[in-house]
Amino acid sequence: MELREDGIYCDCTVGGGGHLLMMLEKTHNTRFIGIDQDPEALDFVRANLGSFKERVILYEGNFAHLDRIINELNIKGLDGILFDLGASFHQLTTPERGFSFNLDGRLLMQMSPETVPLYSKLRAANKEEIFYVLKNYGDVPDARTLAVAIFENRHKLNTTMDLRKLVEKRFSGRFLKKNLHRVFQAFRIWTNEELKNLKEGLIKAVHLLFPRRRMIVISYHSGEDRIVKNIFRDFEKQKILRRLNKKVIRPRIEEIHKNPAARSARMRVVEKCASC
Ligand SMILES: C[S@@+](CC[C@H](N)C(=O)[O-])C[C@H]1O[C@@H](n2cnc3c(N)ncnc32)[C@H](O)[C@@H]1O
Repeated sequence: MELREDGIYCDCTVGGGGHLLMMLEKTHNTRFIGIDQDPEALDFVRANLGSFKERVILYEGNFAHLDRIINELNIKGLDGILFDLGASFHQLTTPERGFSFNLDGRLLMQMSPETVPLYSKLRAANKEEIFYVLKNYGDVPDARTLAVAIFENRHKLNTTMDLRKLVEKRFSGRFLKKNLHRVFQAFRIWTNEELKNLKEGLIKAVHLLFPRRRMIVISYHSGEDRIVKNIFRDFEKQKILRRLNKKVIRPRIEEIHKNPAARSARMRVVEKCASC
């Protein structure tokens, strides 16, 4: 991201504030908007902004409504936009949030308190819907067998460990961890409507970006990356965007050693065309 001292930038996924603080530290006058749908993320970042707080507006909301948010803040357009998708470290490591297959907690997985929790969504779902989620969002092998087991037990699925036990009946040994990850990620994506929000947010972000300014998207799931790639390619065909990397950027091995959570990260960078 090229940071201009007179610019306004938007971090659409503030999370723990790592990227936001890094950008603040590199600049003196640049202003930032930090969005997250999770009020716990915003409370955490607010408490850590220190003297940077004059240059930041934190906004609780869904980036799917980016146009409305930016309009409400009376801002005409943006000099740079960042999306770092998925769940935050805080969400994944807080048992009460119910995201992790390693930590016992209620089966919630909500990024926003307004989202319907997973245990409740499962109770209202039919077999086909559960199968669709496991197959398409998780690429879970033999998704139908697990979908049937989840459907039949849906009224007893109250905690992360209840769901884990069902997955353990289906997979074992070296396949277990991989498939626990797939199942939990698939249900997280479904609970938070992540793919739908991403499509809406990205399209709005492209329109809000000033000419010659950049947008960066970091995703951790092939379904997300496909959406990002296709949307960017379509805007490039219309001569609205230019892709700065045609091939996705993956983390270097040293980065993965330092931060294992980055192993599945894929980054795409685009620039708005001069005449748009
Ligand atoms: C991977 S974390 C971001 C981490 C952050 N870049 C950092 O350096 O700490 C993703 C964050 O995006 C938020 N998020 C995901 N989807 C969102 C959406 N549709 N609207 C707003 N926030 C969203 C999550 O609540 C989470 O806090």
